[in-house]
Amino acid sequence: MIIATVIQQGESPVPEMLRERLPRSLFTRTVYYAPVLGSTNSRAKELAERGEAEGALVITERQTRGRGRLGRQWHSPSGVNLLFSVLFRPPFSLDRVFSLTMLVAVSLVDAIREMTGLKTLIKWPNDIYCNGKKTAGILTEFSADTKAIEYVVVGTGLNVNWDLRDQPELQHSATSLMNELGYPVSRVTLFSCVLEILEKNYGLLLMGKDALIRDQWNRHSMVIGRDVLIDPEGEKKRATVTGIDRNGALLIEEEGGRASSIVCGDVRVLFPSLPGNRD
Ligand code: BTN
Repeated sequence: MIIATVIQQGESPVPEMLRERLPRSLFTRTVYYAPVLGSTNSRAKELAERGEAEGALVITERQTRGRGRLGRQWHSPSGVNLLFSVLFRPPFSLDRVFSLTMLVAVSLVDAIREMTGLKTLIKWPNDIYCNGKKTAGILTEFSADTKAIEYVVVGTGLNVNWDLRDQPELQHSATSLMNELGYPVSRVTLFSCVLEILEKNYGLLLMGKDALIRDQWNRHSMVIGRDVLIDPEGEKKRATVTGIDRNGALLIEEEGGRASSIVCGDVRVLFPSLPGNRD
């Protein structure tokens, strides 16, 4: 049993492994795997521009130019985490594009829960937190004209088996599933579970049931109903989060009661309650 776990944990999420587990999945029809890439999002966008079909999946073990939101870099050592991008071509108008980010976020939360028992939360707009520390980030990029979406690439970096305890600069703000559990997780099994849930949830969006995905997002939200610091690195305004709208903007009530919304940026949750990580 122990031997099996160790071997599985060392397995790379290569196309054959994923196809074996999910032979009929939309996301295993076309899988691009490379041990090293600049960025899986950049590669997926190139493929999209060349006409690649919906569902194409780009996976790597290491990125030399991994990108995060707001022009930041995304760091991950080789071969321990999940780094992947999915190409969607949803028949949606542009105002539904945030639903794709929500889709990936809720699917990650559900898959992590199912595979490990860990409870994770979504921090607006698209980070996954476990026990108060960032475990995954999502980067959504798209091409659209004024009305219709041409394609959406949603990239995920999920810290699975990275030991962050020896990373002085990150250990207080970031974590991995292994660090929270105390033992490593099979990346192939976890990834298969993510893709399976992703496909089921994408089916809901295709049926126009965005509200169901939004409800799940709200249920797992780390910010709804909480006091937050807006623009924590800059002007610093305090507000209470009242919800998100269908475009993904954060609805807030500022001190003094003025209601407004934030379309992009970062928030810091004040006095977060840290629920137990496992039932
Ligand atoms: C963030 O938290 O700012 C988003 C991070 C997203 C990182 C992932 S890793 C796979 C994909 N390729 C990239 O270059 N970025 C995303």
